[in-house]
Amino acid sequence: MSSAPVTIIIFGASGDLAHRKLIPALYNLFQKERLPADFNIVGISRSDFSHQQFRDEKRQGTATFAADLFDAATWERFAAHLWYIAADATQPADFDLIQAGLREIESELASHLYYLSVAPGLYETIIAGIGAAKMAEDVRQAWRRIIIEKPFGTDLATAQTLNNVVHTVFEERQVYRIDHYMGKETAQNILFFRFANTIFEPVWNRNYIDNIQITAAETVDVGSRAGYYDHSGVLRDMFQNHVLQLLTLVAMEPPASFEATALRNEKVKLIQSIRPIQRDDLAVGQYEGYRSAAGVAPVSTTPTFAALRLYIDNWRWQGVPFYLRSGKALHDKITKILIEFKAPPHLMFNLAAGERFARNILSLCIQPDEGIHLQFEAKIPGTTGFRHAEMDFHYRDSFTEKIADAYERLLLDAIHGDAALFMRNDEIESAWKLFDPVIALTEGEQAIVPPLYRRGTMGPEAADALLAKNGRTWQRSGCLHEEG
Ligand code: BG6
Repeated sequence: MSSAPVTIIIFGASGDLAHRKLIPALYNLFQKERLPADFNIVGISRSDFSHQQFRDEKRQGTATFAADLFDAATWERFAAHLWYIAADATQPADFDLIQAGLREIESELASHLYYLSVAPGLYETIIAGIGAAKMAEDVRQAWRRIIIEKPFGTDLATAQTLNNVVHTVFEERQVYRIDHYMGKETAQNILFFRFANTIFEPVWNRNYIDNIQITAAETVDVGSRAGYYDHSGVLRDMFQNHVLQLLTLVAMEPPASFEATALRNEKVKLIQSIRPIQRDDLAVGQYEGYRSAAGVAPVSTTPTFAALRLYIDNWRWQGVPFYLRSGKALHDKITKILIEFKAPPHLMFNLAAGERFARNILSLCIQPDEGIHLQFEAKIPGTTGFRHAEMDFHYRDSFTEKIADAYERLLLDAIHGDAALFMRNDEIESAWKLFDPVIALTEGEQAIVPPLYRRGTMGPEAADALLAKNGRTWQRSGCLHEEG
């Protein structure tokens, strides 16, 4: 634990993200003694709270969302580092209030980690405000860094504009664009699985893999977020960021080191190798009842589900289809990556007519039952028949260490100055460049009208038809028994 003082300054401190994720994650890090010895957390928003009211409110959130590690005595020690400044960060004049408040709380030598946890429409104004108040420049050993939440822009043009604004105030090395999927242990473990072992990487290519399927399914619907979601849709909300991040981890070339530049170079290279996605490669859907949710346009064509087929035009993946799907109001809350291997080249066994071996399937279960499963064919004892069996790995059985929330890891990395798991400017822009034309298919007068799907299913039939075009189906994984 370093003794250099750090202040974590959360803009949008009264919002949902701070309440459910950021403060609970910081509390957990404190409980695990992973925060610097000399730290302060300062919440900023317009609401008129006292320090104590802010602490009380966050206590309740932390007791709910960090329930496992919560205890009253630890909270009291943590809360002594928690402060509040009521200010409107979109008003340049209010930065005087912020600076005066900080002077009362922190030492002059404190580094600053800013966290933009506000509506994305406010990013540019607040960043400009930080710049105008001269709060973005490192002061001797005291660094200044900024974490920017998703969505980073709504398309390539807005992302570029935002990057330009960011770069007038911060240098790229100070910028941490967050995608919380990169903070998930199981996502990071994809790289360990591939590159800390020798036996998987030799078969991790077009010679052995038939196709790869990535699913990020949710049971929840848009809930109270319809106002945001109806302008976003599943492609912006999940694909351009989270699902694409999983794809980069599973498909990228091995970086020379687990260091920010090396890792991010490979991710960018991968995204830039993806063949432009065509109309034919896309299936969308909307769950029944979406249009009657408060905040949704009555004639909305916003997709709440999408399935995509894409190809990566490089040596390793030539000809291997990647199928991606994500949606709301589905049968399961599950994120998984299935690698379906090719059939053996020659069959020496006498199979009955119509019988065939199932292909080997490797399932990387990202959440909720974190683990890895390998399905293979086995002889049924005492018969000449066969059936598939599974080799299972579950985190909960193999490790006593608990899987921490993604925000814990990412906040800690930003405090330590490790940007490896954060998006670089060129990565964000490449991701939008890939998705802009796909999103365009779902918007405007020519928009594909998404077929409705029943809640609690795995999406519209079109998603199955997308795979059927190449004679494939969405495969069941070993991740959850009851999955659809
Ligand atoms: C967010 C999306 O980024 O990710 C939400 O805006 C989505 O719509 C969430 O529900 C999913 O995250 P997780 O970690 O629950 O899979």
